[in-house]
Parts: sequence; structure tokens; C-alpha cells
Amino acid sequence: VKRTFFITGTDTGVGKTVLTALLTRFLRKKNVAALKPVCSGGRDDARVLFVALEGNLSLDEINPWHFRAPIAPTLAARRESKTVKLAQALKSIRAVQSQFEITLVEGAGGLLSPLGEDFDSRNLLQALDAVPVIVCPNRLGAVNQVRLVMAALPEKFQKKARIVLMSPQKSDTATKTNPLLLAEFFPAKPIFLLPWLEKDFSARRALKNVRVRKVLAALADFKV
Ligand SMILES: Nc1ncnc2c1ncn2[C@@H]1O[C@H](COP(=O)(O)OP(=O)(O)OP(=O)(O)O)[C@@H](O)[C@H]1O
Ligand SMILES: [Mg+2]
Repeated sequence: VKRTFFITGTDTGVGKTVLTALLTRFLRKKNVAALKPVCSGGRDDARVLFVALEGNLSLDEINPWHFRAPIAPTLAARRESKTVKLAQALKSIRAVQSQFEITLVEGAGGLLSPLGEDFDSRNLLQALDAVPVIVCPNRLGAVNQVRLVMAALPEKFQKKARIVLMSPQKSDTATKTNPLLLAEFFPAKPIFLLPWLEKDFSARRALKNVRVRKVLAALADFKV
């Protein structure tokens, strides 16, 4: 069965690319694609995925649309007199999806950040019928942020959604209690906890950590 995971989050800079790269490497014995359809402020995310894919896709296949300005992609595109539409994004993603068993798609910014003229990550993940993966930093405020993102998802996608708490470098007063408090609101869902990785980590080295591998396996329903 083909599967598509859509990696979104509560904000920009929360660890979506970190998670997508880890999953890509972890699943590499499967037939896995990782896409970042729309980039703004350069193409660094797409390069990270390119490296993790070890040559399975070209940079342009991973990331067909990239705009220079470090602002919402739809605005960054307008500055270059360009547009991206949902139908175009879908077409390019589906072309890749058809060739792979598992497709990981990273959004940009948060769930409702505008990606193109007529769509955001919510529209895209719905059209792809993807499993939403919600990444949130595990700090004070996380419960509100995760609940907001979940509330913004249609019910069918709430049911499928997976919640990932990214450990911060330094825990705060809520880091320990967030998982249990979140579980009160989402009793049917496992809350996945990824550890903070050492500075200048590589996905390859991070995967030597058994805890990291266990979390990724459970998250992606990967039977080892
Ligand atoms: N678990 C972690 N361990 C170590 N560093 C992390 C971890 N999670 C996130 N980071 C660091 O936080 C920064 C932001 O992470 P990342 O680029 O994955 O965010 P993002 O959600 O993909 O952002 P964007 O909205 O720009 O796509 C990066 O420098 C990354 O290395
Ligand atoms: Mg990213």
C-alpha cells in the first residue's frame, strides 16, 4: 500500500526538515521519496532532503518551486512575478508519488501558511489524502499550539494525524508535562518524542540512537 506523510507543524523553524530527513534516511530500504514542493528564502531544505535521498531524486524533482525572499512562499513568488497553484503542485507531487512506496512531503511554515496563490499546507495534504504529521517544539505553549493545529484539520485528518514533540536544547517548565497533558486531549494518539540532537548532527549519526530509531519506526508504522 502506498503511503503519503505530510510533515507540517505549529510554526516555521520547529524541526520539520530535521524530522523529514531522519525519516527519509530511516526508511531508505523502503522505496521513499521526500519532497519540499515550495521553498522560500533559498532552497536549503530541499538540499537537506537531496542529501538524505542519496541520489534517488534530483533537486528539481524534490523542489520544483523556489523563491529568494525569506517570506511566505506565495509573497516571495509574487516578488518574482511568479505563481504556484494547487493543481500544479499536485501534478508534480503525484508524478513522484506514483514511483515510490512512501512519499514524505514537507510543507513550508505552519499548516495555514500560504504556499501558493490558492493553497496552503492544509489544502495540499487534503488533496493528497496524506497522513498529517504535526511537529511542535516541546516547550511551554505546545499544548495550545498542537490543539490549534488539530482543530484546524478536518475530522478525518485529525483522526489520522500524528503528533511529534521536538525536544528543545534546554527543557523548560512544561517540557516534562506536555506529553501527558496532550494525551488528555488526544487519548487515542501516541505522542512521539524526538530527542534534541547534538550540534551539527547528521541524520546518519542520529539514526545510531536506538531511541530515535524506535520513534521513527512507530511514527511511520515501519515494521522492522
Ligand atoms: N531535535 C533537534 N535536534 C537538534 N536540532 C534541531 C532539532 N529540531 C530542530 N533543530 C534545529 O532547529 C532548526 C530548525 O529546524 P528545521 O529546519 O527542521 O525547521 P523547519 O520546521 O523545517 O523550518 P522551515 O519552516 O524553515 O521549513 C534547525 O537549525 C535544526 O537543526
Ligand atoms: Mg524546513
